[in-house]
Amino acid sequence: MKKIGIVYYSMSGNVEYVVKKIERQLDVDLIPIIPVKEYPTKGFKKFFWGGKSSVMKETPNIEPYQFDASKYDEIIIGTPVWASSFAPPIRTFIKENKEILKKKKLSVIICYSGAGAEKTIQKLKDYIEIKDFAKKCILIDPKSKNTEDNKKKIEKFIKDL
Ligand SMILES: Cc1cc2nc3c(=O)[nH]c(=O)nc-3n(C[C@H](O)[C@H](O)[C@H](O)COP(=O)(O)O)c2cc1C
Repeated sequence: MKKIGIVYYSMSGNVEYVVKKIERQLDVDLIPIIPVKEYPTKGFKKFFWGGKSSVMKETPNIEPYQFDASKYDEIIIGTPVWASSFAPPIRTFIKENKEILKKKKLSVIICYSGAGAEKTIQKLKDYIEIKDFAKKCILIDPKSKNTEDNKKKIEKFIKDL
């Protein structure tokens, strides 16, 4: 059977909402990426520090994780959009695993509030140095917005996996 690993960062639960849905339906390994120093999660500070970290292309230290790429036929990267780019903890993960990631079949889950998803995908592709992702699941705040569009996209993504 096909084995899938999902590497993701989620600050406020949107990306996590999607990966947990996938986990309930398929045999996948979840590899959450957790920054050692958590970003502020509320108010102005949340957008300021996270946004700055993203724009500055920071690679914050992340907690140890278990990731053996050779186990997986496909790897999914899940990230929120932060200032039209992917979240810095994911940058750290990619930096640490770039060579192996480049050789794998990769897909992506992007959660955002309405601006910058395509730019984020382009930046991810450029950073990993791949032509394209096998599949893309792009959702607007799926945890709080249980829209038909989100539901359909998640269902299709899972069906195609
Ligand atoms: C620091 C920061 C920057 C953000 N920048 C953007 C952005 O440029 N465009 C956008 O549409 N949403 C932006 N968002 C909103 C998140 O991408 C969106 O709420 C996403 O669903 C959050 O996923 P999560 O709950 O898994 O962390 C930003 C959120 C944060 C915290």
